Amino acid sequence: MDPVNLFDMEALAKQTMPHNMWTFVDAASNDEITKRRNRESFERILVNARFLADVTARDISTTVLGEKIDFPVMIAPTGGQRQAHHEGERATATGAGRAGTLYTLPTSSGYSIEEVAEVATGPLWFQLYHQDDEVTEILVKRAKQAGYKAICLTVDTPVGSPKERDVRNLYMAQPGLHWGSLRDRPDLINRRNVGVPDLADWAPPDYVGLTWDRLDWLRDLTGLPLIVKGIRTVDDAIQCAEYGVDGIVVSNHGGRQLDGTPSSIETLAPIAEAVGDRLEIYLDSGVRRGLDVLKALCLGARAVLVGRPLYWGLAYGGADGVEHMLNILKVEFDRALAYVGCRTTDELHPGIVDIPDTNWWPRGG
Ligand SMILES: Cc1cc2nc3c(=O)[nH]c(=O)nc-3n(C[C@H](O)[C@H](O)[C@H](O)COP(=O)(O)O)c2cc1C
Repeated sequence: MDPVNLFDMEALAKQTMPHNMWTFVDAASNDEITKRRNRESFERILVNARFLADVTARDISTTVLGEKIDFPVMIAPTGGQRQAHHEGERATATGAGRAGTLYTLPTSSGYSIEEVAEVATGPLWFQLYHQDDEVTEILVKRAKQAGYKAICLTVDTPVGSPKERDVRNLYMAQPGLHWGSLRDRPDLINRRNVGVPDLADWAPPDYVGLTWDRLDWLRDLTGLPLIVKGIRTVDDAIQCAEYGVDGIVVSNHGGRQLDGTPSSIETLAPIAEAVGDRLEIYLDSGVRRGLDVLKALCLGARAVLVGRPLYWGLAYGGADGVEHMLNILKVEFDRALAYVGCRTTDELHPGIVDIPDTNWWPRGG
């Protein structure tokens, strides 16, 4: 029987993926407190159903930085997708396009920027881990040339954060699964300190990321819109607005970087209140249900992204599996929208949701 929801897909993926690869996808940092909290927080939010509105003609499409997507769920950038299916990023991009949404290609992809663009039918963003200026310049210019619509700079990895489950498994990233865009430039790959345990979500010990004052340099390389991914606080969100960033992803990286931070959904409402009129806000970390999408949109997100579920879809059936995963979320979200008496995503507002336990969740809005 086909999986009915994303948790079914997760269970199937756990059965079918090789143990170390499953663990690489599933793991989070240290005690995995933030990863659990991402789910718990969504579950605590209550939704107020409203009836007797005419909700027959619903339109769940939206735009992200001017690009139309059929529903407000996109694919997050995640490294090494070929571990779940040999077609990897090409399959995920194909599935996303068929479902009518956007795919974010990670720096750490098995297929190259161009190989993914060839098969994609939906809009693409390119996620950047900045390593050094030359590599960044090469990658973002190629992304622009290949038709990617924005650069999504991940900022929440100032140093690597090995997952303890991966360390126990002696898990090592396989070069063929992670460095497709630099396949013919081994000299550039070698700058990455191979020899140190090369765990995915990579950042070498001497990683020097970008700083605020260099965002203009990055933007000027392509002129493409700039999205900053990994924002967790109001202060950093305000800095992004002041530096003219076009969009932010409120994200704790699925709990994979610093453990003990709040869930993404907890931080969303105050961030949206501070900067929602100055840039576009997206959210990821823990989205598993169409109802979660609705909650995030009510609290100020324009769209959400999913990370681990793309591997579950890939393991289930490559591009078809990713499409199926997204279609489940699409149907669930559409149904949820009808139940709160709305016809479009623009009609969603904070009053539709309740956050009951304000002691546990002091900043929830
Ligand atoms: C296996 C794995 C690899 C990831 N690799 C990257 C990456 O290369 N770049 C990045 O910005 N985020 C990466 N992420 C984080 C995702 O983009 C996203 O923030 C996170 O998965 C969202 O949480 P979710 O898995 O609960 O949906 C990765 C996540 C996973 C699970």
